[in-house]
This record gives sequence, structure tokens and C-alpha cells, in this order.
Amino acid sequence: MGLQTHGFNFRKSSAMTPTTTPVATGASPSGSASAAFPNFSPGKRIFNFSAGPAALPEEVLRQAQQDIWNIFDSGIGIMEHSHRGPVFDRVIEEAKADCRAIANISDDYEVLFLQGGATTQFAMIPMNFLSPETTADYPDTGVWTTKAIKEAKLFGNVNVAFDGSKVGYTYVPSDDEITQTPGAVYMHYCSNNTIYGTQYNQPPASNSPLICDASSDIFSRPIDINRHAMIYAGAQKNLGPSGVVLVIMRKDLIEKGRTGLASMFSYANHAKNDSRLNTPPAFGIYMMGQVFKWILRQGGLAVLEKRNAEKAKLIYDAIDESGGFYKGVARPDCRSHMNVTFRTGNDELDKKFISEAAKHDMDGLKGHRNAGGMRASIYNAFPLEGCRVLAEFMRDFAKANG
Ligand SMILES: Cc1ncc(COP(=O)(O)O)c(C=O)c1O
Repeated sequence: MGLQTHGFNFRKSSAMTPTTTPVATGASPSGSASAAFPNFSPGKRIFNFSAGPAALPEEVLRQAQQDIWNIFDSGIGIMEHSHRGPVFDRVIEEAKADCRAIANISDDYEVLFLQGGATTQFAMIPMNFLSPETTADYPDTGVWTTKAIKEAKLFGNVNVAFDGSKVGYTYVPSDDEITQTPGAVYMHYCSNNTIYGTQYNQPPASNSPLICDASSDIFSRPIDINRHAMIYAGAQKNLGPSGVVLVIMRKDLIEKGRTGLASMFSYANHAKNDSRLNTPPAFGIYMMGQVFKWILRQGGLAVLEKRNAEKAKLIYDAIDESGGFYKGVARPDCRSHMNVTFRTGNDELDKKFISEAAKHDMDGLKGHRNAGGMRASIYNAFPLEGCRVLAEFMRDFAKANG
């Protein structure tokens, strides 16, 4: 098999060259093993199929290496700059502008960078917009929507508008399978179910403001912002490091938020303070900004959509052409292009698959404990070559074990 690792060479650059005593970072700038880390293998990167935190674009990681040391020739690294100084002003302004450019986001929407992961949004949304007198619709399509429903119930009434648990979360509903509540204050859905590997082909029709948890497929394909009142995404799959959350929210929804909340839980407060109500997750925002620039350099969302479809097809073909050796978890019309889930139907064989794949430098293929089997997470930054290598490995493994 043509298995190989893809090289990652730490390049020496003037911005990375310490002017004082070199720091033991482990990543020797010259690319050689340092005396402090004799076993360090500086060039080695393997195929990382992790569901999140997940692979980031190598160009972005290289730029970050430089900017951690010294950003914009300021003599100070990105993590050491004041969040109210001109360098960070530039970082956050560029990040917002690039985000708007990527998804064609109009001035009717705020772009916010918040913290606490997507899970904090599960609570903040109902805290701001739901009450004991009102109802929100939540199609339940997997673990993450179940968690969002649990949080929403703390603040008001929830209509489980589709119960995916009855079908093992193997598909997402069509519009006529969703039962909407007349007068609902919003409908919340999850565009890509990371654990089961199902994805909506388009946003569901909704009579109320539509809110999307896009944590695991944001900016993997064109997105119609105008059909949504709010889109949010934890960064650690397609955007950057964990912790920071991108929130795109229509201004009229922000204005409807409850007043009198603790300041960190009010969208209006975050919007008024330009995502800097307190010290923001500055490095996370910087990284998102770099990923946005990378997306624009790739040619934008239509290019990524095509590439992601090609990547996913390689693996789905290996499932479909295995004569039943591999079974896909998701119903074929709802298959995710971000998380490909499959199993052999034999737990021992699944374990063997995962351990043999690891020997071929493929990591992170174990399925989530709720779904079992295998999961290949192949977000924007995951290389096509890795999908090819996995598909080839799957064919060889089926031949040897079928
Ligand atoms: C779709 C989806 N929503 C929400 C979350 C929770 O994100 P966080 O851990 O950032 O709170 C995840 C995490 O993987 C996810 O995949």
C-alpha cells in the first residue's frame, strides 16, 4: 500500500529566531532534534481523523508559529498583546471582515467571538430568548441536540419537534417530519451530527427564527445566512482551537434578548462591547482569523464544498463497495461530508481495524462510545490524501479479514 506520512518541516524564519536565550519549545527551529529533546522527531505528522479538536491547516500552524513569537513585527507575540491595543484591534477587525466575506454576511448580523464552547450556547440561547411562558422547537438528531434540549428545559418549554432517538439517530428529518409549534420563539437544529455522521442537506423550513448549531460543519460548504436568525459554532473542528465560539446573530434577535442577565450571558452586552466585554480568548480569535484567511485563499466555500464531497466519496465508496463488510451508520441521503461513520458489525474486528490503522499512522478513527464502530472526521483542513490512504487501507483490511 502506498501509505506514507506527510512531512511537516519546521522552517527557520527571522520572526521565529529568538533574540534571547532559546526556549525549549520542543520544536527546534532548525528542524533537528535538540539536546533537550533527544527523541523529538520534528518532521513527523500523521493523519489525524479526530472529531475535535481536529486537524488544522498546516499553513495556519506555520504562520501561528511565527506570530506566537512576534506578530506584525511588533516584537511581541500574539498571546502577549493587550486585547485593547492596536495589534489585537487589527486581528479582530480582520477576523470579522474575513468571516463576513466568506459567508456574505450582511450588516443585519453581528459577528461575535465568545467563549465557553458550543455547550455554553446551549444555555445562553434559551436564557436570552426562552421563558416559562414560551416554547422553542428542537428537532433531536443526536447527542448534541439532546444536550441542548436539556439546557433549554431549564428556562422554558421545549417541543421535541422530531425524535431521532426512535431511529437510532441514523437520519435527520425532512421538513414534513418536523412538528413545529405555532408561535414558537425559535427553532434550534444541528446541521451536522458529529457523533452519528448525519448532516442536513439544507436548513429545515421554519416558521420561527431559525438557530443552527454548525459546530462540526461551519464553512465546509456555502451557507445561506439569511435563512437563519443565528448560527454558532465551537471552533475546534473547522475554525481553530477549542473554547472560542463563533456566533453570527441577526441584530433584531439580539435586541429581543432578556435584560437583567449576568453580563457574560447577554448577547446584547457582548455585541455592545465588540466581543471584548472581558479579556477575550485572544489566541483563539487570532487562529480563527488565520483559518478565515486560509478559506479565502482556497477560493471560498464552493471550492471547499467540492473538495469535501470528493474526500467523503472516497471513504463512502470503500464502504459501499465492500460487499457488506462495512456498514455505514447514516442513511445514505443524510451522509455527512465531515464525519464518516461505519462499523463491521463485530466489535473485536472494529478494535482490530482501529489498532491496525494506527500502525499505518492513522489516528482518531475510534467511533464515539454512543455510536460505536469507526468514525473518520475529515474536516476542511484534513487532506484528500488521508482519505485516499484510509480507503485503500479499508479495502486491504476487508480483503484480509472478510
Ligand atoms: C455539533 C456539536 N455541537 C456542540 C458541541 C460541543 O462543543 P463544546 O465542546 O465546544 O462545548 C460539539 C462538540 O464536539 C459538537 O460536535
